[in-house]
Amino acid sequence: MRSNDRTGEVAPRETRPALTAGRAVKLVVELTDRCNLRCGHCPSGRHGGRAELPLGLLERLVPQARANGIGHLSFTGGEPTLHSRFADIVGLTAGAGLDWSMVTNGWSLPKHLETLQRHRARLGMITFSLDGAREATHDALRGRGSYRRVLQAASACVLRGLPFSFNMTLTRHNRGEIEAAVALAKGLGALGLRFGHLMSDPNPASRDLEMGPEARKALDAELHALQAASDFPVGFTPGGWREALFPCAPLQDLELNLDWQGRLGLCCHLSGFQGADAATVADLHSMDLAEALAALAARRQAFKAQKRAHAADGDWRDDDHFPCWYCAKHVGAVDWIRAQPDHPWFAALTGAAEPHAPRAFVGAAQAVGTCLPESNG
Ligand SMILES: C[S@@+](CC[C@H](N)C(=O)[O-])C[C@H]1O[C@@H](n2cnc3c(N)ncnc32)[C@H](O)[C@@H]1O
Ligand code: SF4
Ligand code: SF4
Repeated sequence: MRSNDRTGEVAPRETRPALTAGRAVKLVVELTDRCNLRCGHCPSGRHGGRAELPLGLLERLVPQARANGIGHLSFTGGEPTLHSRFADIVGLTAGAGLDWSMVTNGWSLPKHLETLQRHRARLGMITFSLDGAREATHDALRGRGSYRRVLQAASACVLRGLPFSFNMTLTRHNRGEIEAAVALAKGLGALGLRFGHLMSDPNPASRDLEMGPEARKALDAELHALQAASDFPVGFTPGGWREALFPCAPLQDLELNLDWQGRLGLCCHLSGFQGADAATVADLHSMDLAEALAALAARRQAFKAQKRAHAADGDWRDDDHFPCWYCAKHVGAVDWIRAQPDHPWFAALTGAAEPHAPRAFVGAAQAVGTCLPESNG
């Protein structure tokens, strides 16, 4: 017996895909590639269009989710709150007994407060993107008025008792505001703040936002010290300087990504970046969820085997240590940098930097804490 599209019937344990066996998995769902903002760090493949994930696909998928080990849907985009059926999608998710969360720029949140409150029992976290502690820094990246909007949205959550946290993507321009961002998040009543490294893309590169590996290492050391000294929850997305080969929920098979085109892929961190189409694995328009999960499990297994072998081959370099960078390189999402000698990652990517042992940075890795559980990027 297989899980059934129409009834969501539970498959017997032995036929469930290895990917989700026995564990509650989060499915990150890109609801749309539409967005009201044009942030300087965001690749146009994530926000440049007017398409959205069809409600019909979600109506087919959501009843199958539990039977396939998925317990939580996390909405992202583009800007998830701009999906024309956002309220229906939240209702569908919560009504199927799934937990839900979202990451948002906060601009349109006031329109959706009633929906959020109605489905509060299943709401894990609202994550707001805050890309500077100062209004000028945040707005330089996200556009005029966006800082006020996101702080207003956070205040609305405080008033209604809705759980929220912040996500800050680090760039050359906001890296000096990490302590101030923690203080701001704490003062606003957030449950935590999560820092993330920038994924490389021609858009942030053209705005001189990117830091190279040495600058990232120095920043990570600051972040780890800040985390250790903080009485407020500080977490990281997995792009930092880590000892572990498989340090993140996707590579621990605890997180899946569905893009706005209905395709299951390796990770939400790779979605929408130039050249990263190779990270998509299965199209849910033409496959059922169990089949798609099996294809993804095989793909992830092959990736992990390749990475283990590389860690042992004596040619491990800076861009192999940063986990998200490794993945981006693996799927061809940073190939464009090979033609950009001035790019801060050019030397690491083209092999001009010296190789070193994979475990040379264990000390720094041990200081890395866990991510806040309910935020995504
Ligand atoms: C793509 S956005 C989608 C959700 C929503 N529009 C928002 O901005 O919160 C999800 C997260 O990805 C982050 N992000 C955008 N571009 C990025 C990049 N190049 N590298 C890493 N994170 C990035 C955003 O700052 C945001 O926190
Ligand atoms: S980061 Fe979010 S808000 Fe900014 S352009 Fe991308 S999708 Fe839109
Ligand atoms: S890009 Fe790779 S290392 Fe980064 S979160 Fe995704 S799967 Fe993990």
